[in-house]
Amino acid sequence: MADLKGIILAGGLGKRLGPLTKITNKHLLPVYDRPMIYYPLSTLVEAGIRDILIVTGGQHAGEFLRLLGNGQAFGLEHLNYTYQEGEGGIAQALGLARHFAKGSRIVVVLGDNIIEKSIRSCVDRFRAQPRGARVLLKAVPDPERFGVATLKGRSITEIEEKPKKPKTNLAVTGVYMYDESVFEIIKTLKPSKRGELEITDVNNHFIRRGELQYDVMKGWWTDSGTYDSLIRANILAARKAGKRISDLLKNPQD
Ligand code: DAU
Repeated sequence: MADLKGIILAGGLGKRLGPLTKITNKHLLPVYDRPMIYYPLSTLVEAGIRDILIVTGGQHAGEFLRLLGNGQAFGLEHLNYTYQEGEGGIAQALGLARHFAKGSRIVVVLGDNIIEKSIRSCVDRFRAQPRGARVLLKAVPDPERFGVATLKGRSITEIEEKPKKPKTNLAVTGVYMYDESVFEIIKTLKPSKRGELEITDVNNHFIRRGELQYDVMKGWWTDSGTYDSLIRANILAARKAGKRISDLLKNPQD
């Protein structure tokens, strides 16, 4: 079987972070000592994936090429890029990767997801899975901000996108693994109330077929697409790099 390909979704307009995103792309904003996009890229490379596509958009797409080039800083020989017009949703952005995937299975990471630990063992379990999809779940204090999974034993029975009253505290993180049938599913989707093709609708298709598996992610995980989650990502990344937050906040007169 051909090896897995990686896809980073860094399209959309980052409106929730205005005015920070007025003159640059959200995924180029700093998270501690590096641009946000470095984190999902490291996550994929660390999991052993070397053939990677970045889907980006907006007015500053050229900056990704200036920043990342062919991925030399990550030990890659080559990086692929494609462009999403507007912000039609995560599933629309993923649909643009069909030509790149060319029948391979894929591991998708959202461009604003910052993950502490390696996902390699989960990717290996997907490699061993005969077909279908796999998601990574994480217990969070604010599930209403995410896709939320309901479980029965080892199965996910339902995912609700940003429910007002979440049935569990298990967020569906922005790491998705799919076989090639995902692109046929995307073609059948209709825009949601927020006008987007939703990745949660894709995952619910796999649930209905009995083909969605999951792991619970180890270590911390955060998105970074709101003011609060961006500062949280910065703090977590700084701590991971060995900084003590109390030292950073020390007043020279104290
Ligand atoms: O972070 C995990 C969550 O991400 C999941 O739990 C949700 O189920 C999923 O819908 C998504 O939620 P958000 O509403 O927070 O996603 P957001 O619109 O912030 O987009 C996340 C990333 O996806 C963004 O940094 C870039 C990419 N994206 C998004 C849109 C709307 C695109 O590439 N194109 C797009 O059109």
